[in-house]
Amino acid sequence: MTDKPKSDGLDRVLVLEVARVTEVAAIAAARWRGKGKNKAADKAAVDAMRHELGRVHIRGKVVIGEGEMDEAPMLYIGEEVGVGDGPRVDIAVDPLEGTTICAKDMPNALAVLAISEEGAMLHAPDIYMDKIAIGPGYPPGTIDLDDSPTKNVERLAKAKGVLVSDITACLLDRPRHEKIIAELRSIGVAVRLIPDGDIAGVIWTTDPGQTGVDIYLGSGGAPEGVLAAAALKCTGGQIQGRLLPENDEQLKRILSMGIKDPRRKYSLDEMVSGDVIFSASGVTDGSLMSGVHFRGDFAETETVVMRAKTGTVRRMKTSFRNIGLKMKGI
Ligand code: FBP
Repeated sequence: MTDKPKSDGLDRVLVLEVARVTEVAAIAAARWRGKGKNKAADKAAVDAMRHELGRVHIRGKVVIGEGEMDEAPMLYIGEEVGVGDGPRVDIAVDPLEGTTICAKDMPNALAVLAISEEGAMLHAPDIYMDKIAIGPGYPPGTIDLDDSPTKNVERLAKAKGVLVSDITACLLDRPRHEKIIAELRSIGVAVRLIPDGDIAGVIWTTDPGQTGVDIYLGSGGAPEGVLAAAALKCTGGQIQGRLLPENDEQLKRILSMGIKDPRRKYSLDEMVSGDVIFSASGVTDGSLMSGVHFRGDFAETETVVMRAKTGTVRRMKTSFRNIGLKMKGI
């Protein structure tokens, strides 16, 4: 991450541009729903996102993408995207968040993109990150990655004015989380386990009344951590993350990306330090938004797009005509 940007935020016109990009990626991925082909679904989303980004008047640089230049032909970290004549921005993409969910046609697969002022987003490598997140309305310091799940939930319950047993925690359903799950259940916390898709898991904490999720815990992808932080930067909320290198090679990668302390605990503002626009379009139906619905030659998408500077959250339903013809060019 470079120094805090000095500009006055992103041009609001970009809100619609960014939404267009995730809409198109979602439609492309949706054609692969239930086909059991994770890679093909991901590639379709990547190609579509890359194509649509190429039409946006920005001088964009991918800071969170599909991998390093030698392993990802498109949307690789460092790739310049956009028409090349607008503002300089950083771009974080997850063209298909939940490749397995999409391949199995299960809920909550998303196409996700965040665009920020240059230097405003943490350049996180594609390794694991330990995360903890809650929604808006709680005092600063309600969560702390260095404390036990029990302590965190106790503080959260107190701040919310409820019993610990009224709290629901969301985690990825992974063997590595068995200990945390057992600890949470032993104090009466309800645990919602998700098969994949922890960006959605974090966003759920922003509206516990609707989603039933109060806190997100556990490890998942670091890129997804930064994208989730971008969403919380817009809605309010708290998140902390710490990179979890698993071997020397990953450690070297962290250092080569300019991160001096690989064990640093990042706050929300350290992961996303300036204005950011976050957009997510549903690929499969989910609790955040509907997936793509194909009706004859139309495709309908649902997108949530938000901006940190203003805190505006837009929910957009879009109907695309002649989708069969348009998609041929992608
Ligand atoms: P993909 O879209 O790349 O399949 O990632 C899905 C996901 O569940 C993320 O939401 C999450 O951060 C990560 O995978 C967790 O990784 P793992 O499956 O290795 O536990």
